[in-house]
Amino acid sequence: MRLLIKNGQIITHEQSYFADVLCEDGVITQINDHIPDENVTEVIDAQGMLIMPGGIDPHTHMQLPFMGTVAIDDFESGTKAALAGGTTMIIDFVIPNPQQNLLEAYHQWRGWAEKATCDYSFHVAITWWDDSVSRDMQTLVEKHGVNSFKHFMAYKNAIMATDDMMIASFSRCIELGAIPTVHAENGELVYHLQQSLLERNITGPEAHPLSRPPIVESEAANRAISIADTLGSPLYLVHVSASQTLDAIRYATENGQRVFGECLAAHLTIDDSVYQDKNWLHAAAHVMSPPFRPKNHQQALWNGLKSGALQTTATDHCAFCAEQKSMGKNDFTNIPNGVSSVEERLMVLWNNGVNTGQLTMNEFVAVTSTNAAKIFNIYPRKGAIQINADADLVIWDPKATKVLSVINQHSKVDFNIYEGMTMTGIPAYTIAAGEVAYQRGEVLVKVGKGKYINRPPYASYYQTIEQSHQRKVAKAVKRDQ
Ligand code: URP
Ligand code: ZN
Ligand code: ZN
Repeated sequence: MRLLIKNGQIITHEQSYFADVLCEDGVITQINDHIPDENVTEVIDAQGMLIMPGGIDPHTHMQLPFMGTVAIDDFESGTKAALAGGTTMIIDFVIPNPQQNLLEAYHQWRGWAEKATCDYSFHVAITWWDDSVSRDMQTLVEKHGVNSFKHFMAYKNAIMATDDMMIASFSRCIELGAIPTVHAENGELVYHLQQSLLERNITGPEAHPLSRPPIVESEAANRAISIADTLGSPLYLVHVSASQTLDAIRYATENGQRVFGECLAAHLTIDDSVYQDKNWLHAAAHVMSPPFRPKNHQQALWNGLKSGALQTTATDHCAFCAEQKSMGKNDFTNIPNGVSSVEERLMVLWNNGVNTGQLTMNEFVAVTSTNAAKIFNIYPRKGAIQINADADLVIWDPKATKVLSVINQHSKVDFNIYEGMTMTGIPAYTIAAGEVAYQRGEVLVKVGKGKYINRPPYASYYQTIEQSHQRKVAKAVKRDQ
């Protein structure tokens, strides 16, 4: 397979220039002013369009068994939606039941993901702790290409990671060269607020944000940051939604910590007024955690992306249809948490970020693709346009428009949180492993075409962190003597 893309403008996280791109057998083999179209299988004329690294969504949940049901998008429909939106790789989550063997859960998810149409990888959640978990973390890092472990600080009585578990797991991450990630919400406080709202007979979706105010998020973020600082590990905070959490990240990074932050396309776009909708299903369709916030937090998130305090954008794609959301008809705590967004992320970031002047085109590439590749240690295989990089590209039409709607989406869910919003700047083609996977409305790729991507541990990076942590400890010991 030899695919030639001609006449387009290449946009990477650091450069913008005109060149043709040749993709052969899944990788980029030539980037030149003029590549002759001899012996090529297919030519795409990208005149007037931009060629960018395919999106990497570092946070999705396809087919997730969660809150008594299973997320409606499986690895086939979810990754087709991803490709239709210009995303060529997702990093999903293996979430073992408490007491479930980590390797068993990992293989279960690998089996489910065999029908993926784009490339994928897995973070593995630490939902319980004993010596076997510690051993299995090593096997996952050394034999299965896992370099990140997730800790849900919320979801008490289910998958919540307590402080003792996080301390043990973060320490193990350091030994293994893996990065700990957290869903930062204080699960005890959420539980307490949920119970007191229910006692007062406040049972609808409007109670959801009341049970998870910003301080519940920032308390957990500060705690995770403090644990990471004490142990000397880096930290990645998923779905940062509150300005107070950004303050915590800024404080930590200004004091020398490696703390990375992710925000969601949905939190950048939608505010908490959705929970006041008179239509129960409409409000319930927006129940996700952390919840949508008052408008001022949105600008704080954009500022976080602009300033570099937040490095990545994701979706937390975790789709539940009306019937599933109705499980919480009489009790908001039973509404399955999650929304869909994997198809819309790039368009939302472009329309609301680049078109409004909040982000440059290069920053757009950084926050939708390259930074995730760097943080999760797959750069420059992914997130780059350079020789030998995987030929995962999006050919972007900055002038074309699309109205986002449940009618034209590829997700199986029966709702679209961006319903009716007009996007200017949309993917015209998505190229995955050097082949056209999506073209103007149509997903063309075969089921199972996606590959599992191994993510190696961070050897040298950790050496640097370890050295600076040791220096810090030695200095403190000396001062105390
Ligand atoms: O509401 C959400 N975010 N559902 C998915 C699980 C999680 O917390 O990431
Ligand atoms: Zn979460
Ligand atoms: Zn999530």
